[in-house]
Amino acid sequence: MSTPRLAVREAVAHLDAPFSVLDLDSALANAGDMVRRAAGTPIRLATKSVRIRPLIRRLLTLDGIEGLLAYSLAEALWLADDGVCDDILVAYPSADRQLLHQLMCGDTYLRSITVMVDSVEHLDLIDAVVPPAERGDLRVCVDVDASLTVGPVHLGARRSPVHTVEQARALAEAIRDRDGFALVGLMAYEGQIAGTTDSSPLVAAVKKMSVRELAGRRAAVVAAVREAVGDLEFVNGGGTGSIESTTAEQAVTEIGAGSGVVGPALFDNYSSFHPLAAEWFVLPVVRRPAPGFVTVAGGGRIASGPPGADRVPVVDYPRGLSLTSTEGAGEVQTPLHGAVAAALELGDHVWFRHAKAGEQAEFTDSVLVVSDGDIIDEWPTYRGEGRIFT
Ligand SMILES: Cc1ncc(COP(=O)(O)O)c(C=O)c1O
Repeated sequence: MSTPRLAVREAVAHLDAPFSVLDLDSALANAGDMVRRAAGTPIRLATKSVRIRPLIRRLLTLDGIEGLLAYSLAEALWLADDGVCDDILVAYPSADRQLLHQLMCGDTYLRSITVMVDSVEHLDLIDAVVPPAERGDLRVCVDVDASLTVGPVHLGARRSPVHTVEQARALAEAIRDRDGFALVGLMAYEGQIAGTTDSSPLVAAVKKMSVRELAGRRAAVVAAVREAVGDLEFVNGGGTGSIESTTAEQAVTEIGAGSGVVGPALFDNYSSFHPLAAEWFVLPVVRRPAPGFVTVAGGGRIASGPPGADRVPVVDYPRGLSLTSTEGAGEVQTPLHGAVAAALELGDHVWFRHAKAGEQAEFTDSVLVVSDGDIIDEWPTYRGEGRIFT
């Protein structure tokens, strides 16, 4: 259920909106549920889906959450500098020469950060920044494409060109045969499974087909790469939406996941798990344009991805308020309609939830942390710490 709990609403009832709220108890309960679903496979926390450093620190203290899946090299360097974690996998490749230089000139960085590669081109770029003879071994992970192609239809992300067992083995051998690299892991993220809601029997059937195809291919890729380069420290897969199917694969040693902690609106429609909503932005009612309507200040915090109705924020409280089809979530104000509008007064709080986890933090400098019915702290977001990585 997605309504903010009464105790959470009451804890901030005296404050003037706008502000953002983190229900820490629900976030920790969600994290516990993710660990339970992972059934013994550790979760590497996807920081892009959190973007609040004190929350990341807190989550790292939980049993079953080990290491970070960062989304940018700049972020990884910052987190390592600050001692947040000594095991950071950067999930996406970087072409930033200056940051790569910084990484390769720091022994602590080289020990704690692993970068993503999917081609010899990536290796060449790295060598051009600091030649192998002038650096310690750089920890690298190979990104393996986890998508499914059925006839002319491509399902999944367009990321790595490494899809087949032969392609993975060839890149692993290329890394093995070059100085200055340590191939420590593989990652294959099945977005078409983890990021697709169970919206119809057809979708469920296609997801099942993809799970089966990937399980066989991922196991074969891992075996081939291990044969070529020896043991690997980790094989990363999955996301919040696929924890059960990913953990069922013996070849996978860790799950990369984060969104489930926050419970964003896109996660309201999965049938196999139901995270609690744990983070909101709260906007004030500022005018009443017509009977049955109120308008709140702000609102247009639209999520990334294919544009569509599921990318706009949802109103969690009061229940029964809807966006209008003509204005949607507006740039500086948002009209809402519904019978409950009549009961609202100027300054009243309307609780919105972002469609995606993490992105909400880009719109606010801090979140009020509520636990056990009280505001216990105010935590800065990455943005609040002056860090924007995308
Ligand atoms: C590489 C990778 N792993 C895992 C995830 C899953 O993250 P989440 O659990 O936050 O949905 C993503 C999401 O895009 C990803 O890109």
